[in-house]
Amino acid sequence: MNIGVQISTTIIPFMTMNLEQIIQKRRTDVRYNTSYPLSSQDWMRYRVDGTLPFENEREMSLYIHVPFCRSLCKFCEYVKYLLADKTVQHRYLDIVETDMIRFMEDHPCVTFTGFDIGGGTPTSLCHSAFQRLVSLLNIAKEKNQISSDFLPSIEATFLTIDEEKIHMIHEAGFRRISFGLQNVNSTFLQNNHRNDGTFARQQEVFKLCHKYGIEILNLDLMYGFVDQRKDDLLATLSVAQLLDPEHLTVYELRTNMLHDIDIKGSSARNAQYHLLRRYIKEAGYDMRLGANTASRISDDGVSSYLHHRMTGNGSYKGFGIAAQSKSRIGLSYNIGKNCKSLKKCLEQDTFEQGGDTYLLPPHEMLAKYLAICGYCGRFRLSKMNEILGVDAMTAFHDEFDFLTKHKYLRINNGIAYLTRKEFSCYGAILSLFYPAHE
Ligand SMILES: C[S@@+](CC[C@H](N)C(=O)[O-])C[C@H]1O[C@@H](n2cnc3c(N)ncnc32)[C@H](O)[C@@H]1O
Ligand code: SF4
Repeated sequence: MNIGVQISTTIIPFMTMNLEQIIQKRRTDVRYNTSYPLSSQDWMRYRVDGTLPFENEREMSLYIHVPFCRSLCKFCEYVKYLLADKTVQHRYLDIVETDMIRFMEDHPCVTFTGFDIGGGTPTSLCHSAFQRLVSLLNIAKEKNQISSDFLPSIEATFLTIDEEKIHMIHEAGFRRISFGLQNVNSTFLQNNHRNDGTFARQQEVFKLCHKYGIEILNLDLMYGFVDQRKDDLLATLSVAQLLDPEHLTVYELRTNMLHDIDIKGSSARNAQYHLLRRYIKEAGYDMRLGANTASRISDDGVSSYLHHRMTGNGSYKGFGIAAQSKSRIGLSYNIGKNCKSLKKCLEQDTFEQGGDTYLLPPHEMLAKYLAICGYCGRFRLSKMNEILGVDAMTAFHDEFDFLTKHKYLRINNGIAYLTRKEFSCYGAILSLFYPAHE
């Protein structure tokens, strides 16, 4: 194993294992997915006081986290709370708005490449709070330049959105709405405390989105649950096909932060992924092998925030509790990630104090970039070079040599693609480029 780049010395125990043994050991380890770091302890040595600096960034995306939901799904890994009353919703927005305006005043020359609102369920807010929320997009556009591919997007559920909110979304300038569908099996939904309404309701919501001219609709589907059968996947796909969104996203269940959810083994998950992909492609969508996004409008199936984050290693600034930010030199999480109560977070005037900031060495930044690339099934060698500051093919000569020889990776025009063989253990493969923490 090459240690030309300054790779953590804790990698030494793995030198006794060959690369194939490492892959086989990690392929059944559910921690190796699109999440990184593997454990919150891994970055403790890089923790610093204060907020993450963005002084040297020319371009970045903005993300706003809305941590409220009408009910809490058992399988959900995100930071979320049961919807609080209107006063709390407005208090939350007061803080987000102040943080966002201060950030933009401090960074007037940055061009925004994306603007996503996610959660939680942004559409669960009451109408007055929701109007304030979506108007933040206009504040961002008025104060800073935006990129030519700017495609702002917002997350929604079918039972929390209505005609008035769709109208507000459109008026504010959002061009994409992402809806969660997950799985249509009624027992699954009940067991997971989830309700997405009837098919008639879902159709009605899509019709309203078309009426107001929302350009792109996305549906999120999930797989990998231990009791999820082939029939469930097919039934969910038929509903998706009838709704006919421009984008489809398939999420493999992650359980890093969950304790009471069982996940299928890696081969069964892999089989489910390939089944979903086959039917999605047959329905007329482009879906590259290894990617979790599909599109029937000749793009990569995501908002510009996610596009820059996944393919360009772009920087992003998150607002709201537990929101993640990434610059070229580190990562931070706002207050609220580690189960601090909502009440405690709201007592502060900013969500930027009391969180966690990490200034990371290049090999950790690289691992973060590669983990997120698990979503799109490919990564750019030029981005690896940029992050490491040295030639990645040289620094990781042995890994690239092994992975391409054994057809785990295919490299074409400076892009490394996951192969069909690789996809069943994509997390384990990508982890060969991680510094070891075990
Ligand atoms: C922020 S969440 C939810 C948006 C919206 N509240 C909803 O439920 O539709 C975005 C997506 O993450 C996915 N998701 C939630 N929990 C997950 C988990 N444990 N593993 C993988 N994906 C997950 C779901 O597909 C969900 O639609
Ligand atoms: S999946 Fe969506 S609705 Fe369910 S708890 Fe998570 S954020 Fe809330």
